[in-house]
This record gives sequence, structure tokens and C-alpha cells, in this order.
Amino acid sequence: MAVFGKKRTKMCGEFRASDVGQTVVVCGWVAKYRDLGGLFFADVRDRSGIVQIAIGDGYHGKTDVSSIKNEYVLCVEGIVRSRGEKNINKNIPTGEIEIDVLDCDILSTAEVTPFMISDDVNANDALRLKYRYLDLRRPSLQNNLMMRHKICVATRDYLNEHGFLEVETPILGKSTPEGARDYLVPSRVHPGEFYALPQSPQIFKQLLMVAGYDRYYQIAKCFRDEDLRSNRQPEFTQIDLEMSFVRDENDVMDMTEGLVKHIFKECKGIEYTEPFKRMPYKEAMERFGSDKPDTRFGLELVDLTDIVKDSAFSVFQNAVAGGGAVRGINAKGFANFTSRKEIDATSEKVKNFGAKGLAWIALREDAMSSSFLKFLSEEEKDAILKRMGAETGDIIYIVADKSKVVYRALGELRLYLAEKNNLIDKSTYDIMWITEFPLFEYSEEEDRFVSAHHPFTCPVEDDLYLADTDPGAMRARAYDLVINGQEAGGGSVRIHDSALQERMFKLLSLTDEDIKNKFGFFVDAFKYGTPPHGGLAFGLDRMTMLLTGTESIRDVIAFPKVQNASCLMSDAPSAVSDKQLEELCLTVSKVEE
Ligand code: AMO
Ligand code: AMP
Repeated sequence: MAVFGKKRTKMCGEFRASDVGQTVVVCGWVAKYRDLGGLFFADVRDRSGIVQIAIGDGYHGKTDVSSIKNEYVLCVEGIVRSRGEKNINKNIPTGEIEIDVLDCDILSTAEVTPFMISDDVNANDALRLKYRYLDLRRPSLQNNLMMRHKICVATRDYLNEHGFLEVETPILGKSTPEGARDYLVPSRVHPGEFYALPQSPQIFKQLLMVAGYDRYYQIAKCFRDEDLRSNRQPEFTQIDLEMSFVRDENDVMDMTEGLVKHIFKECKGIEYTEPFKRMPYKEAMERFGSDKPDTRFGLELVDLTDIVKDSAFSVFQNAVAGGGAVRGINAKGFANFTSRKEIDATSEKVKNFGAKGLAWIALREDAMSSSFLKFLSEEEKDAILKRMGAETGDIIYIVADKSKVVYRALGELRLYLAEKNNLIDKSTYDIMWITEFPLFEYSEEEDRFVSAHHPFTCPVEDDLYLADTDPGAMRARAYDLVINGQEAGGGSVRIHDSALQERMFKLLSLTDEDIKNKFGFFVDAFKYGTPPHGGLAFGLDRMTMLLTGTESIRDVIAFPKVQNASCLMSDAPSAVSDKQLEELCLTVSKVEE
């Protein structure tokens, strides 16, 4: 049998000065080379890093080294030697040594790659995604995937230690109602019927609690057919967990907090000793206009509704009369560096965030200017400036609209202003729990209440009296973990009483027939002895983004999809043969190009 190369001693990036004098074998890809006639240098790369090899007088191999090119795969035998003081490369861990080559096998040649395999590559995204396996050779992507692995290891270690059992749940399942559109898989054996890929293992993990498995976890693939964003993929991975005999949400939050602290310690060397901050949803919205606030900077929202409710400025008056609100942000000191042109550009920007306009006051050294003060009385003006804590140098931005619109516009404006003006200290992590989410959201589209989280979330007991009169005001025993303004994870205490579960289904306007069809097996299960339980799921991809500091979710997934949910490398999704369609009893009625 053919043997390819010699047995590797260790990985390229692992050599140190302490190895000097050893005869070693390294394998890897040629990252770059220099052929100086009698002397040939190359950087050999594997996922651990690079090591320099030098082919000179000591070389007695048969391979013609002048044929070696970038990305060739080599197996090199040589002696580790010191580079000498003046040739040390302090930028790489192996920079003190090089390998003086005795023998060299070319394990594979390589064609010229479509782009340079280097972190400062400037090839466009589409090309890099088409040749993803080449892009994945870049050290930064390799580091991201190694971090992802580390997070999984730390997660498993912690949860195993705390009595959790790793259980797999089906990929071919029945639709779970979690808001997004399902990916469907046609059944050949049951023509006209479909499986749904899981949006999360929610129902199964709860049934595992009914089945007595006590504490479950899974690093679970989830599928949601929703619009992609920089932190969303159609298939993504959750660190999913569920616990039985939870007395209240603190049991789940404490366990999860321990897990997150363990991950930060193991993967980043950061130790958190204090409990994470907690903030009720209502406070987060009122202060930051968001249920995933980034609290690394100020620019908090201030309510002005009561001051301007009778104002002569119709924008404010109409918003309040229509049940809306008027809120503002004090951009402290911004007048010193924000031109009128920029204020106008900011006003345009908030329109992208859903607001109809942006009212502003700029308190400059020489004069105060404003888009709306002329419509207000002196008392109203003074009251606004006082409430906003306005001083010379500040700019006040105000939005009037339905509360939901005001929150969104100012919440986004905060982020925009902070990002644009470098107000965020990116060297720290801002970790917090948001609690007491609303149980329901009103869907204008469906003209009914829908679950804000999912229909198995337990309502706050004190709010049950609102069920028939004001369901929109009911709070849920749900919590999100927010890191740097991103929803990293979320979960809830579940309903474990079938009567309460049925009542909640009714509030969601589900008929008996719907309940039976969609959740019959689930509701039945709860009749046979159900422990109180609760859980949560983190986005593994998002967690990896946060720990690697990457802005795009694609950079932490080996083979990601692009905006339109396709894979540029494999060309999925693709048409299938007529024979395959026939077997599934399917016809494609219309394909829009
Ligand atoms: P939820 O829907 O909040 O909860 O999802 C949990 C976490 O998964 C991540 N996430 C995503 N990551 C990447 N791409 C996506 N499209 C995407 N969608 C969600 C987020 C989110 O916080 N079954 C419940 C959890 C529970 O109640 O236990 C659930 O799925 O980081
Ligand atoms: P106008 O009367 O349309 O010239 O508007 C006067 C100022 O109010 C302008 O600066 C507008 O951008 C601002 N404005 C308009 N609609 C809103 C709104 N919904 N909230 C806050 N300011 C607004």
C-alpha cells in the first residue's frame, strides 16, 4: 500500500525555541515562498499557524524544490534551528526558529488559486464563498471555527458536570409554532404530506422533561425560513437546554449564567464574579428603545409626552392625541462637531428606522437653533430643555409617533449615533438579562394576539386576571440574555398545567380543532405527570460572533448561505429531476426567474 509522506511530529504552529536541535516532520500548505537559487524559503501553514522552512545545503531529497508553488501540500523532514537574533519574527509564535530541511515530499500540487489565501485578501465575497474551502484556509476563519469548537467543548463540560444529558431530537418533524416560516420536506411514502425541519427542539425538549430525563441539552441545528440579516442564517445552531423541577426563572437563569461565565473563562480568559445585570423589558424599552439594549454608552431616551401633549406643534399634538408618545435623546456635546448638514442627514436616517421625521434642537455656543421650537410656548421649551438636561453644546433629537415607532426609531438612532461617533468601548462585554417580556404581541396582519416567545411560555401569575380584558398587558416568565446589544439567548419557564396551556391556546384564537391538530400529542402528554420545567437556547453562531468580534454570522459558520438563502459553493438549492418529483407526487407549477 502506498504511504503518503512521513509521520508528522507536530503541527506547524507548535514549534518553539525549545525544539532547537530536534529532527522533526511537518506537513502543510505552502503559504508563501522565496527561491534564492541555492536557498529556498517557504512558510508552511496548517490550522495551528505557520512555520518557516529553509531548503539549502543540508537538503538531500529527490524532489526538485524549484517546482514548489503556493498551496502545494508538503511533508518536510528537517532539523529545528534557531533563526539567529536578527532574523527573529516577533509576529508569529514560531518566529524564533526555522526548519532546516533534509527531505521534502510534495503530497499534492495546486493550481493557482482564484485569490490569495491571506487575511488581507481583497477578493469579493461571492468569489470567496464560491471557493469557500480555500477561504476557510485563511487564519482568521480557522481561528473563528476553532473558537466555535472551544465554546462547544466548554458548554459540554459545564453541562455534563451539572447533570445534563445530551439527547438528539428529530430533524424530520412536525411544524413547531415559533413565528418563522418552516422549511418543508415532502414525504415519498405519504404523498402530499410534509415534514417540517425544526425551528428549534422546543416541543421535544419539553416532552423529554415529561419523560423524566430531568436535565437535557443539545447543540441543535435549527431551520427558519426568514429574511437573512448579518446575524441570521436560515440554518443555525442553538445550545439548547431544559431543566425539570425549576422553582422559578432564577433556577434556569442562574444555571445559564454559570454556563456563560464558564464559556468566557475557558474561551476568552475573562472571569466574571458579579451576577449579570437584570432589567425588566419595560425599563429597557423606556430607557433604550430596545429589548436588547447596548448599555455600553448613554444616549438614553427621555419621555416628553406630558410636556407637549397640548402643544401647538401639530406633529407632537397629533401623536399624543392618537395614543402615541414624544420622546427624545440628548446627544451630549454633539453640537460641537455636528454640522447642520449632518443633522439633516440624521433626520433622513430616522426615516429608515420607521419615524416620519426628526425634530431637533442644537444648543451651539453662539445661538440655539431648532426645527420646531418656534411652534412651542416658552414654558414648553424650558420644560423640554430642563427634562433633557440640556446644556450648551448638546443636540436634542425628538421623535413623535406611536410608542412602538418612537422606541424603534430612537433605539436605532442611539446605535447609529454611538457607532458613528465611536462612543462604544469595544474592549468590554456588556452582558445582561432582560426579563418580564410581554406574553403576547398583537399581530395587525393576523388580527389576533400571537405569542411573543412561544405558546408554552408561562404567564406571570399576577397578570392572569388580565387574560380576558387586556391580554396585551400580560407579562411572560421569559428572559433573554443580551450581550453587546445582541440577543444571544432566550428562554422561559414553561406552562406545566394542561388546563392553563389550553387557556393560553384559546387566547391565541386557536380553535379546539387547531389545538388537536397542531399540538394534540403535546397537550395529551401533559396529562400524564409533568414536572415544572423551564429552559433556554443560545445562538451558538451569535455567541461565536461575540467572542471572536466578527460582524458577520457567515464568518463563524463553515459553509454559510448568502442573503437569498443559497450556497454559492454547491449551488443549493437546485432543481431536481422529473423522476424525483414524480416519486414525491409533486409538480412545480410556476418558476419565477
Ligand atoms: P429563540 O427563537 O429566541 O428561542 O432562539 C434562541 C436563540 O437562537 C438564536 N437565533 C438565531 N441565530 C442565528 N440565525 C437565526 N435565524 C436565529 N434565530 C434565533 C438567537 C436566539 O436568542 N425554543 C426557544 C428557546 C427556549 O424557549 O428554550 C427558541 O428557539 O441567539
Ligand atoms: P414640518 O412642520 O413638517 O416642517 O416639520 C417640522 C419639524 O418636525 C421637522 O424637523 C420634521 O423633521 C419634524 N417632524 C416631522 N414629523 C415628526 C415626527 N413624527 N416626530 C418628530 N419630528 C417630526
